[in-house]
Amino acid sequence: MYGAHLVAAGQLGIGELVTSLLIATTLVFRIEGIGRVMQTFADARASAERIWQLLDEPPAIRSGSARLPDSALGLKLEQVSVSAPGGGLNILDQCSLTLQPGEIVALVGATGTGKSLLASLLPRLSDISAGRLLLGSDSAGWHDIRQLDLSELRRRVHVVPQESFLFSDTLAANLRLCAPQASDEQLRHGLRLAAAEDVLERLPQGLATPLGDRGVTLSGGQRQRLSLARALLGTPDILCLDDATSALDAISERQVLNNIRQLRRDQGRATTLLVISSKLSTILLADRVLMLQHGKIAASGTHAELLHSNPDYRDLLGIDHG
Ligand SMILES: Nc1ncnc2c1ncn2[C@@H]1O[C@H](COP(=O)(O)OP(=O)(O)OP(=O)(O)O)[C@@H](O)[C@H]1O
Ligand SMILES: [Mg+2]
Repeated sequence: MYGAHLVAAGQLGIGELVTSLLIATTLVFRIEGIGRVMQTFADARASAERIWQLLDEPPAIRSGSARLPDSALGLKLEQVSVSAPGGGLNILDQCSLTLQPGEIVALVGATGTGKSLLASLLPRLSDISAGRLLLGSDSAGWHDIRQLDLSELRRRVHVVPQESFLFSDTLAANLRLCAPQASDEQLRHGLRLAAAEDVLERLPQGLATPLGDRGVTLSGGQRQRLSLARALLGTPDILCLDDATSALDAISERQVLNNIRQLRRDQGRATTLLVISSKLSTILLADRVLMLQHGKIAASGTHAELLHSNPDYRDLLGIDHG
């Protein structure tokens, strides 16, 4: 307005007015830009502080120094509780169960009952809030996992997670994760045990084929079988399959579980297997079934026994009453 007045009074040319307006708006944008950069710096500083705090935090899960007996291992939960992160009801609530060395046991339960959580306790990916988790056998003694050397524990107890993951590396490197010394021949054997030879046959560069982001993309079922092969190559004493055979057809599944059953039987070191599943075909292959409900093992027995005696079990498997 003041500019227009000056132009009208003949004290300012119209060109000069336009130029000065342009300069003014440009300056405002530049100054705003500087403000934004300062804000970004302030945010980054706050974030960095949080990251340093996290890095300085002592690890919650500490290794013990006890060693496990060098023989087949069983698994025992004694009154194990795990509290929910924000308080509220315990997810596992005084849960007790025992797997004898070499047993194949299926764990079933509705979605969200804490089956994967239970699996994560075995290699101490998370810790329990109360009770005891023991590994060993009646003959060699039972050991509290919190006293065990973590690297030995994680070598002898392996969980194949619900969501299989592969690194952006070659197939061989992915398989050698649990068995760094394995020869190519052994890797092929591991793939055979997991019914995954056909995955290898289809790869252009065999074991040296890069997988993942910059390599070959595999289907969910193919990834699942590679994760199984990786676990078997590590020859764990306790293996937990968390829905890790969901994509296998019934015949391959039977073959894979049979292979696991035979894995080290000749060395007197039968693998103890906990299979989390909701598939009837898997459950039928187990020696025994445990049903998790309200944080506890609510029923235990053979599939036939539970089918006969437990209406909740029939509901869970979607089997009609009658
Ligand atoms: N480490 C943990 N600590 C505390 N709570 C957890 C932990 N992991 C998962 N949870 C919570 O425990 C509950 C059970 O989750 P979980 O994944 O074990 O269920 P699930 O039985 O495996 O279900 P699904 O059959 O769908 O796989 C969820 O509410 C989840 O948020
Ligand atoms: Mg789960």
